[in-house]
Amino acid sequence: MAEVVIVPDAARAGVLVAEEIVRLITRRPDAVLGVATGSTPLPVYEALRERVGGVDVSLLRAFALDEYVGIDPDHPESYRNVIRREVVEPLGLDPERVRVPAGALMGIETAGEEYEEAIASAGGIDLQILGIGTDGHIGFNEPGSSFASRTRVKTLTQQTREDNARFFESVDDVPEHCITQGLGTILAARHLVLLAFGAGKAEAVAGAIEGPVTASVPGSAIQLHSHVTVVVDEAAASALRFGDYYRYAWSHKPAWQGL
Ligand code: PGA
Repeated sequence: MAEVVIVPDAARAGVLVAEEIVRLITRRPDAVLGVATGSTPLPVYEALRERVGGVDVSLLRAFALDEYVGIDPDHPESYRNVIRREVVEPLGLDPERVRVPAGALMGIETAGEEYEEAIASAGGIDLQILGIGTDGHIGFNEPGSSFASRTRVKTLTQQTREDNARFFESVDDVPEHCITQGLGTILAARHLVLLAFGAGKAEAVAGAIEGPVTASVPGSAIQLHSHVTVVVDEAAASALRFGDYYRYAWSHKPAWQGL
């Protein structure tokens, strides 16, 4: 099962995950990181920024989970720009080694397949950072997504468009389509690290970790993976049945194990 770590706040989660990423890069300088957008991973990137001074990140490679389809690539909220602003520039990564799915309409038919080939030729993703949507999505795999799915175009739910409207002038400006790594793509990463903060995520988190494995809750796909770390604050953990056990297991974890 997933290891569930309940932390006091998002900043502590950021430090825990950043330390694990630094361990990975130290062990393997050309590691492949799976990066996510949205508000959730920001504390990880912030904690990483404070730690990369002492680590050589020149060979690090990264793949983003998803992108809006048809968005102007120069729009500040295109994920290409978000990843450049939040990850590539602050961490000093080589932009040539960081990929985001191509959301341009021209060539969209083959963009998913090309992205899968790029991930495969990088040797696969070592550590994938994930957020979770209030509707249970991971990446932009909305409810009903196949557990075998690979990178492809999806239609966003109205819920997701409303959740993301805060990044745009209005909900009408949020694109209707996206290109996202599939659940099958995500499950092929070697270590999944899912983060969630706030009471608004409590139900999605409980469904993903403790609910039935079902395409209706795409996040529940993580139950099929052998190495998953879920890092949540108290509010996001509030609907978990086995919270006491997760706290007990974490406080008794042998120090050598890492995440
Ligand atoms: P958020 O989005 O981090 O902005 O809450 C998470 C997600 O939609 O996966």
